[in-house]
Amino acid sequence: MSLEIDRRAFIASLGGVAAINLMGHEERADALEDYTLDELDKAVAQAQGQEPAQQQGYPTMAQLDAQVEARVSRRGVGNLFVPSSGEEKVKKLKPMPSNPTLKDFFDLRFAPANHVLQSATRALKTGMSEEIILACLLHDTVHSLIKVDHGWWGAQLYEPYVSEKVTFAIRYHQALRFFPDSEAGYEYPEMYYRLFGKDYEPPPYIQEAYKYVRHHKWYMEPRLVTVNDLYSFDPKAVVSVDPFVDIIGRNFKQPKEGLGHDGSPVAHMWRTIANPDSPL
Ligand SMILES: [Fe+2]
Ligand SMILES: [Fe+2]
Repeated sequence: MSLEIDRRAFIASLGGVAAINLMGHEERADALEDYTLDELDKAVAQAQGQEPAQQQGYPTMAQLDAQVEARVSRRGVGNLFVPSSGEEKVKKLKPMPSNPTLKDFFDLRFAPANHVLQSATRALKTGMSEEIILACLLHDTVHSLIKVDHGWWGAQLYEPYVSEKVTFAIRYHQALRFFPDSEAGYEYPEMYYRLFGKDYEPPPYIQEAYKYVRHHKWYMEPRLVTVNDLYSFDPKAVVSVDPFVDIIGRNFKQPKEGLGHDGSPVAHMWRTIANPDSPL
């Protein structure tokens, strides 16, 4: 392989002509060698189709798969059913009121819910519609119950109580997060190289869902959930559900019997979140 030296880049890399004039003959020869070796490495990496720097150091899907039997629980299990990170055992849960509201679930089962609260706070600050703000607030809360396919699970959990647009936004944010849309301000999150593997390709049902939503008149609803989805959390940010109580009041049909006791097709899902210690 022949490697052309970019003279200007080489001179600049040494600090310019004045700096090179101060160097002895040996020193210049060494510098040239270092430069060409470095360039050679880059050229080889490019020729071999090596991954971009941002993907380096992340596991492959095969490596993640090999870790399955080193785990004590499945990766898709709901947060309420396993110890919190850094803990060895689960903690006792506070009892729920007899007719619990969405706010009760935030306070007693979804807490600390930093991720969704920070996402909704960002949506509020960036002037999103109330439906988008609500979708951001709810979009990952079903993680308490289950994480795998959480877009579909989450949409189902909320469907009887929110508008169709909010349900749509929650359901499809799961698929859209794998597909960048720089015009809308969404790039593929680097964290996904770590979570899914650097060679991850979304499965066919996710690709299909993406194709369907991409041409849907409500495309921007789930897209804006992904735009406000935060992959780097500020652990010091003080977030609470209080600023969203009015938006919940206007956009969430709270059943008077309480979530889990209204006889809706998803009441059992709410009861499971309320009582994850129930043996059967
Ligand atoms: Fe999500
Ligand atoms: Fe999220």
